[in-house]
Amino acid sequence: LTTISPLIAGNWKMNGLTHSLDEMAELARLLTTGAAPRAIVVVCPPATLLSAVAAQGASSGILAGGQDCHPQSSGAHTGDISASMLADAGAQFVIVGHSERRQLHGETDDVVRSKAEAAIGAGLKPIICIGETEAERDAGQAEHVVSGQLAASLPEAASVHEVVVAYEPIWAIGTDRTPSLEDIAAMHASIRTCLTERFGERGESIRIIYGGSVKPHNAREILDVDNVNGALVGGASLLAKDFYTIISAV
Ligand code: G3P
Repeated sequence: LTTISPLIAGNWKMNGLTHSLDEMAELARLLTTGAAPRAIVVVCPPATLLSAVAAQGASSGILAGGQDCHPQSSGAHTGDISASMLADAGAQFVIVGHSERRQLHGETDDVVRSKAEAAIGAGLKPIICIGETEAERDAGQAEHVVSGQLAASLPEAASVHEVVVAYEPIWAIGTDRTPSLEDIAAMHASIRTCLTERFGERGESIRIIYGGSVKPHNAREILDVDNVNGALVGGASLLAKDFYTIISAV
């Protein structure tokens, strides 16, 4: 059986001003004074804070990630950021295809796949998000929808083991609701099967992380589920003490 080191990533979304770096400093303090974390720790701040987070994280082993990237490496794309720019600012990861991007910016699986390919090309590890709506789950379509997104959003790259898959049921994001542990286990097992069918043995080593209302009180039971190789944390990553509790739950 392949053992995969767990990864806990914080997605600050459109939250964070200069003073949020105090939370980073506190997280760094907790991580360096407490027991060494078993997980790889990533913080994905807004782009304005990326270099500061990368610089600050360096001494405590916290890695930095972007929240989105453009499929192209440069050019006339006002307001966009390329994967190489994120790498240049110190990022090692980038979230692509978050449901907020898919829903609010019309990103399709094709767009998400090109972003993931651009990320790998720039030396970043893409965290590729997939997940069903509540209506799709109620209709019994969750696994079907998620496996379709997975098939179409993942790159065909040889370096596919560099990708992280984040399963985020849309109805669990920011709602304080989570699927049952059985439902999480079933979905992660189904994603694992898709990955091994497509990539063979390499599919065994791809991290599948869970996102959607992961909090200090439920992190341990969720992270204990088979095939859950970490978490993508929104709201609870904004407070160092809460995020540290989640990191320590691995
Ligand atoms: O990307 C993480 C996110 O969508 C989950 O957010 O606030 O439910 O942990 P939250």
